[in-house]
Amino acid sequence: MPIIWESKLDTGIDVIDHQHRRIVDYINDLEIAKAMGDKKKVTDVIEQLIDYTQSHFGFEESMMEEAGYKFLKPHKKVHELFIKRVTDFTMRAAKGEDIADELHSMLAKWLINHIASEDRDYSDTVKSMVGAEAAHHEVATQRNAARPGFISGLLGRFFR
Ligand SMILES: [Fe+2]
Repeated sequence: MPIIWESKLDTGIDVIDHQHRRIVDYINDLEIAKAMGDKKKVTDVIEQLIDYTQSHFGFEESMMEEAGYKFLKPHKKVHELFIKRVTDFTMRAAKGEDIADELHSMLAKWLINHIASEDRDYSDTVKSMVGAEAAHHEVATQRNAARPGFISGLLGRFFR
């Protein structure tokens, strides 16, 4: 079953919601590739998903840090543990094991739960820093933001 975006997944920070939606798209693409039995596509999607998620985590961590979010450390730890889990999967895959089903269900459960709980938790802190308006229209309202250009600067650092 593909994951359908629900409002409980919204953080209210457009740039983050956009990245989270993209992660969900990757998880759904993985399901399609599995259903088609397209091994090459499965491997490609897994690679892209991991790469994108890592960039996203880096972005999120810097954003939380700049905002002075008080649970940055435990949040980073949670990201780290996730990456470790994913690395275990890729190591098993490298040994020839078919991990696609197990990885897909882990990703779907873990990421959705993380977005709906831990990620939602930083949203107020971050929004108050960039300015509630700026979280939605950063470019247009940069003048009003506490930290002008903060989001676009971060984007350039983590995404090519
Ligand atoms: Fe996170």
